[in-house]
Amino acid sequence: MGKLWGGRFEGGLDPIAWEYNASLSFDWRLAEVDVRGSIAWAKALMKAGVITLDEQHQIVKGLTDVLTEIRTGKFEHLPSDEDVHTAVERRLTELTGPVGGKLHTGRSRNDQVATDFALWLVDAIDRVDAFLKLVQKTLVARAEEDMGVLLPGYTHFQQSQPILLSHWWLSHFWPLARDRQRLAQIRERAAVLPLGSGAIAGTPFPIDRKFLANQLGFKAYTPNSIDGVSNRDSAAEYLFAAAMIGIHLSRLSEMLILYTSAEFGFIDLSDAYSTGSSLMPQKKNPDTLELTRGKAGTLIGRLTGVMTMLKGLPSAYDKDLQEDKVPVFETTDTLCLMLPVVAGVVSTLKIRADRMEKALNPAMLSTDLADYLVKKGVPFREAHTLVGKAVRRALDLETPLNRLPVSELQSISAFFGDDVNTVFDFEASVARRDVPGGTAPAAVTIQLQQAREFLKSHKIRSSVPHSETPHGGDGS
Ligand code: ARG
Repeated sequence: MGKLWGGRFEGGLDPIAWEYNASLSFDWRLAEVDVRGSIAWAKALMKAGVITLDEQHQIVKGLTDVLTEIRTGKFEHLPSDEDVHTAVERRLTELTGPVGGKLHTGRSRNDQVATDFALWLVDAIDRVDAFLKLVQKTLVARAEEDMGVLLPGYTHFQQSQPILLSHWWLSHFWPLARDRQRLAQIRERAAVLPLGSGAIAGTPFPIDRKFLANQLGFKAYTPNSIDGVSNRDSAAEYLFAAAMIGIHLSRLSEMLILYTSAEFGFIDLSDAYSTGSSLMPQKKNPDTLELTRGKAGTLIGRLTGVMTMLKGLPSAYDKDLQEDKVPVFETTDTLCLMLPVVAGVVSTLKIRADRMEKALNPAMLSTDLADYLVKKGVPFREAHTLVGKAVRRALDLETPLNRLPVSELQSISAFFGDDVNTVFDFEASVARRDVPGGTAPAAVTIQLQQAREFLKSHKIRSSVPHSETPHGGDGS
């Protein structure tokens, strides 16, 4: 069988141009959703009176057999198969005879590929969401297990204030919660049916698009056929969501990498997630975390690539749009590895609470010292200056802040009393920050409850009530 569009052409395509044009090597991943879309289309054609019920049955039976061949790896590609749509239709016609040639009535590959891609994306989002949930659960488990452990908090990567390790773990939980909410919204916008848009102008057959949408699990259909075939917003949004996930995991990775270094020694990675050096026998490298940091860059690159591809396109379908597939497929593959790897790293690492505690420096309680003066009636701005002087004095005397004699402190301010020593207690400092969202054990316990609640209640399929479906006709 020749090309789908062979009629008006004389002579063949230059072999290199053929290879350049063909997308089967990468869009074969749409094969299953392509068949799903075609089965629904065959039923819609029958409903519209374009084919008979018997023809519908023959086509659906043929497509089901094609699906079996796809799933069992028995589907044979031919050099003449230009893309997944061509290949599936070619095989269908081989199996059913001429009736297979009726399937493409009123349909274009333009609305077909947009539909396939939307179906694929919705499924990909569900898979990614499940992995995000896994990482979140791992972080919650860590927060529970490591409750009570203190470590220095860093701002500007300088020691700032003591915090609970559990609080720090959970600081990486909430970004992923936002990622999941974002994905749920993208899923809603992706699940809008383009089929029925034809090549650009719609289809002349009385196709019931509401029925079609329902068949394919879409909640709505596109309200404009020109936009319907050219809209790739969901792909771009998905790539953004993926890049953001990459950024979140990259920031976690960067900190964990630092914590594994000898100078910190806050954590030990499991051997299962580390690698060695070919030269230096002592090395244990955090490669999995470094790759996560590196792949975040690649994820951002894919987003940039697709947005740049989209930005200058003239109206409706252009072949440029074929370039949307590889980045979306590869991004999904990246995330489906990256997320379980990070979950594995986090759940198997060993924390070294003693090293974390040893790294706590009394100077990190300077704010608490200023707050002590505030309680004695000193305005905070003044207290800040006075404690700054105390810190300077301790540095000059090369003594830790908590060892500075009270007489020294009193020479700076008469408000410093003998009770000043009570300030130098890391646990008390942490416990004081019990505002909701703070690092105090009491607040973190509540936060943990909120995190568990999110895990229980967040449902990707119901983030936007159906009545609020952003646009499109009612497909429900
Ligand atoms: N392989 C194409 C793509 O991915 C399918 C649509 C082709 N449409 C066309 N008019 N040539 O975009």
